[in-house]
Amino acid sequence: MIKEQNVPLQAYNSFGIVAKAHTLVRVGSEDDVQQVLADPQLAGQPMFVLGGGSNIVITGDVKPVVVKVEVMGRRLVKETPRAWIVEAGAGENWHDIVAWTLHNGFPGLENLAMIPGTVGGSPVQNIGAYGVELQDRFDSLDAIDLTTGRAFTLDAAQCGFGYRDSVFKHPAAALGGLGLKDKALITRVRFCLPKPWKAVFGYADLERKMSENGISAPTAMQVFDWVCAIRTAKLPDPRVIGNAGSFFKNPTVSPEQCTDIIAREPNIVHYNMADGSVKLAAGWLIDACGWKGKSIGNAAVYERQALVLVNCGGATGGEVVTLAKAIQTSVYERFGIRLEPEPVVV
Ligand code: EPU
Repeated sequence: MIKEQNVPLQAYNSFGIVAKAHTLVRVGSEDDVQQVLADPQLAGQPMFVLGGGSNIVITGDVKPVVVKVEVMGRRLVKETPRAWIVEAGAGENWHDIVAWTLHNGFPGLENLAMIPGTVGGSPVQNIGAYGVELQDRFDSLDAIDLTTGRAFTLDAAQCGFGYRDSVFKHPAAALGGLGLKDKALITRVRFCLPKPWKAVFGYADLERKMSENGISAPTAMQVFDWVCAIRTAKLPDPRVIGNAGSFFKNPTVSPEQCTDIIAREPNIVHYNMADGSVKLAAGWLIDACGWKGKSIGNAAVYERQALVLVNCGGATGGEVVTLAKAIQTSVYERFGIRLEPEPVVV
């Protein structure tokens, strides 16, 4: 366990916001976590678990102890006739693990290529892209209870996955005592990659790549390359322009609400969901309100994807939050829809 004081966090959040952690500890193993919990200066203090910092907006210096998860490791746990079970340490870079699984002959994560962040963050917000969500490839995870030091394992049902949601996003009080926000530190995640592998399509951008390339039965590596190309064209690279991916969730409405909105806005982009609800493209709603390319201070709406807020250089977390609120207000005034932010405001 490495303990540091007054640590700059700019390099540890994908928005590139300048702020400091009063105390930051790096944990590289389960033993390190136990050492933090037994440390007389740290024990009992509020803690903030930091993964890749790709889904947070920091609005000032962070007072809780920042626990930076650097647990590494990757391995094939077992291969059965039905699946490969692969495990990765929570501190591993997400995209590196996707690439590693493919190179080692364990396909299944290719649609999730290039999502910024770490393995440990992937179940927290149930990352998803191009028709696949983490919950579709999840086996189980190991975590440590930060209040008791007890290690435990959760399966998919216990993680309470939803659209960009899990038990890790809710405080205990909100889920009848089951929420784990700020209460658990994920150390390892196991993925279940089903056999035989089958490509997941149905997403317009991917279908387009198939027809452009004249390929009807692509390999997992081809899907991986296409997803990388689509993301590179649409989304800003956080190493160049600070951002946290989609800033809002795509809202769902009832079919009646949708019919009502379509009567007023015939071009609205919407998708019918299996449960009968209708999902609206938040990017379209924001775009329709004229926000693309607009800014408040040094925070702006990305000109190629209105769902992504970016740091033009030197933005504060306050500017990002002010811009987000202004967007929410104008979308509500025009469409009567409340957009819910995806990142955690720290
Ligand atoms: N659109 C616009 N203007 C915009 C942006 C989008 O009109 O500025 C419309 C387009 O018509 C487009 C539709 O909205 O067809 C949907 O846009 P896109 O395909 O870019 O996907 P999204 O719904 O905006 C979601 C995820 C992304 C994920 C992509 C691909 C959420 C909040 N976002 O974006 O996830 O990569 O689908 O599956 O669900 C992330 O969570 O950080 C993220 C990048």
